[in-house]
Amino acid sequence: MIDIHCHFLPEIDDGAKTLEQALAMAQAAVDNGIIFSVVTPHINPGRYDNSLTKIYPRAKSFRAALKAAQIPLRIGMAAEVRLSPDILPLLDEGEIPFYGELDGFNIMLLEFPHTHIPPGADKLIDKLLDRKIRPIIAHPERNKDVIRSLNKIVPFVEMGCHLQLTASALAGRFGEGPHQRAREILQFDAFKVLATDAHNLKARTPELELGKLAAAEIIGAEAADDLVYANPLTIVRSQMEGSEAFWASAEARSSAKQIPVETADKKQARLRRLRAHDWRRRTATINDPKVAPATDSSKSGVATNVAKLSGMKAVFTISIDGKKLFKKKVDLSKGKIIIGRHPDSDIVIHGDFISRRHAVLTVAGDMLKISDLNSKNGMRVNGKKVATSKLQDGDRLTLGACDIVFSLEPSNSPQREVLSANR
Ligand SMILES: [Fe+2]
Repeated sequence: MIDIHCHFLPEIDDGAKTLEQALAMAQAAVDNGIIFSVVTPHINPGRYDNSLTKIYPRAKSFRAALKAAQIPLRIGMAAEVRLSPDILPLLDEGEIPFYGELDGFNIMLLEFPHTHIPPGADKLIDKLLDRKIRPIIAHPERNKDVIRSLNKIVPFVEMGCHLQLTASALAGRFGEGPHQRAREILQFDAFKVLATDAHNLKARTPELELGKLAAAEIIGAEAADDLVYANPLTIVRSQMEGSEAFWASAEARSSAKQIPVETADKKQARLRRLRAHDWRRRTATINDPKVAPATDSSKSGVATNVAKLSGMKAVFTISIDGKKLFKKKVDLSKGKIIIGRHPDSDIVIHGDFISRRHAVLTVAGDMLKISDLNSKNGMRVNGKKVATSKLQDGDRLTLGACDIVFSLEPSNSPQREVLSANR
């Protein structure tokens, strides 16, 4: 595996504190199956005043130390560059180390502040692209704006930024929010790489394998392997040097899986797809409706009402972060509609915030009733947390992080008018 983001270089940022620690981290990377690590010290003017001039001799020295310690890890060199206008002079001076070139662009690891995406970030990135520098955005899944709203990262993908997800975030080690976002971003139609962002041997370790395995559960083993080998190799190939046999082998493997260079026409087509893309469509799927046991209307005394509703369909328009995911229609004659992650549910919504059996919609008298099924994250109707509530056409239902607009749709328009009159 190839790791394009780590903080091994000692005493240059918040990564390794000593050479001894740095070597231990390198050995841990090797033990984890990593063959090539790109050291990426922070460049954050005013906090970490690093530059190529400062990083290069340290990287060279570390390479020598690895050789002396007989640790079989090859290293490359780049930097994790904090988004700031202050980086423009550094770029002018050639003091920002890039990963390498891809499709005519120098690839640069770009970091947003963790707390937010600054206003004007798009304008600065435009300037970078004008200079033929393409950012690969470091750990977008951990940015608090992105955690609040997945849509926040979409414009940057549309601009052509690449994405670097953190292996440990994808494995759940950064908590629920980054975990969820990493899983979602993993399915974006964008160029993506998985990396460790290793800082130490305690909480932020040089482990890539756990992320690859987590990714494989979502996108399959081959695509997950690309995230830690073929894709990173595409941008660091020019740096990979050393034993001829070693690099010849790497080259042979990469050529078999090489990502074709994107032509202008293909890029335009990809951007059109991105704009029309439903970002969460692959994380929220539905099953064909299963027929849940119908309520025994003759015993419950609601035969007339069930009959009245039997020609109706309940329509669930499901969104997350304002993005419409899918619309699901279920015939009310079923009497009961289960919503949850469980595959036997009538409406299956995958997501960490959705319980296996989250809620149930039942026909109750002349009304519809929604009931929480002791879900972990609860249920809201029109913003109010409830255990049970009537549900009417147009009501907004919230299950975990999922918004559902509920409506009723008759099989023909007159039936809809009758139902509206009864509300
Ligand atoms: Fe980092």
